Amino acid sequence: MKKILVTGGAGYIGSHTIIELLLKSTYEIISIDNFSNSAPAAYDRIRQITNQNFRSIQLNLCDQNAISQNLDALENIEGIIHFAAFKSVPDSVKDPILYYHNNIESLNNLLKFCERKNIPNFIFSSSCSVYGNADQLPVTEQTPLKKAESPYAHTKQVGEEIIEFFCQAHPQFNAVMLRYFNPVGAHMSGLNGEMPISKPNNLVPIITQTAVGKNSLTVFGNDYPTRDGYCIRDYIHVTDIADAHVKALDYLVQKKNKTNLSLYNLGTGIGVSVMEAIASFEKVSGLKLPYTIGVRRAGDVIAVYADNTKAKSELNWLPQYNIDDMMQSAWKWQQNLEA
Ligand code: UD1
Repeated sequence: MKKILVTGGAGYIGSHTIIELLLKSTYEIISIDNFSNSAPAAYDRIRQITNQNFRSIQLNLCDQNAISQNLDALENIEGIIHFAAFKSVPDSVKDPILYYHNNIESLNNLLKFCERKNIPNFIFSSSCSVYGNADQLPVTEQTPLKKAESPYAHTKQVGEEIIEFFCQAHPQFNAVMLRYFNPVGAHMSGLNGEMPISKPNNLVPIITQTAVGKNSLTVFGNDYPTRDGYCIRDYIHVTDIADAHVKALDYLVQKKNKTNLSLYNLGTGIGVSVMEAIASFEKVSGLKLPYTIGVRRAGDVIAVYADNTKAKSELNWLPQYNIDDMMQSAWKWQQNLEA
């Protein structure tokens, strides 16, 4: 059976993608994770939801020797979906070198592995943060990239460039780079969701933790030049993001790609302000959320949302869930954690 390696498979987007792959494809899935910001319990949740089993390997992708020892013997690898990376904008501002080391070294090692093993297909987790403060909204894949606002965003810009040059050097190698906007929410069953080991920095887990009294929400800035003064983001349900990976993989395996490097925005196309996101949570939960207004957070862009036309037409992808579904599922997951 052909194998797909999923790096960061115990993480937030990785675990949701393994669920969709197990349910919608016939590959043998192997998850690779070092649990630096996740835990093996994610695998139990995947098995519970899908009623299927899969292999997992604990491995730090920054360690080339560990990759050789653990992965070189694997045969029939049809592709790699590479999620494993650090993803906190504020942490990257505090410790840039950690971010460059972890996110770039792991990518380089994995591409070396692809070279050694002649792996034909690769899907890379990129981010809308590569656009910086774009001149034009919504952003299309052609929108020029501005200066990265954080080291995290810069690791994604550099990662994309590394893959671009790698593809030029290896015409047989096929890559898709997916620029996620703001993935949020949880599996609609409420049985799997975001579960970072470290304190979350992202808005939605902070909202749901605040609602159960385990965190306190500070809204970062109310003086942005937007319709209500709050930052605008394109929140996208994590299962829609996961589904896009299944479709991108099909696209590569069925050789529908016209060039060996393709790039897609993954967002709903709808901009939602921080205050609108809070209002959606309050609506679906029936709770009044306590919060304070704070200063702007370093590294934040003002507003960004996607033109998702290209992913819809070429990958045949259509996001299914709206902001209320995202908040409802995230809330269900949080309540499940409390039970
Ligand atoms: C960024 C990237 C996104 C990436 C994510 C990974 C951009 C535009 N997006 O998301 O592609 O997947 O990093 O972490 O760069 N906020 C508060 N209070 C909080 C937390 C957040 O007000 O306690 C606000 C932020 O200022 C921001 C919004 O909520 O306006 C979303 O923040 P967050 O969830 O951290 O994601 P981004 O940094 O936008």
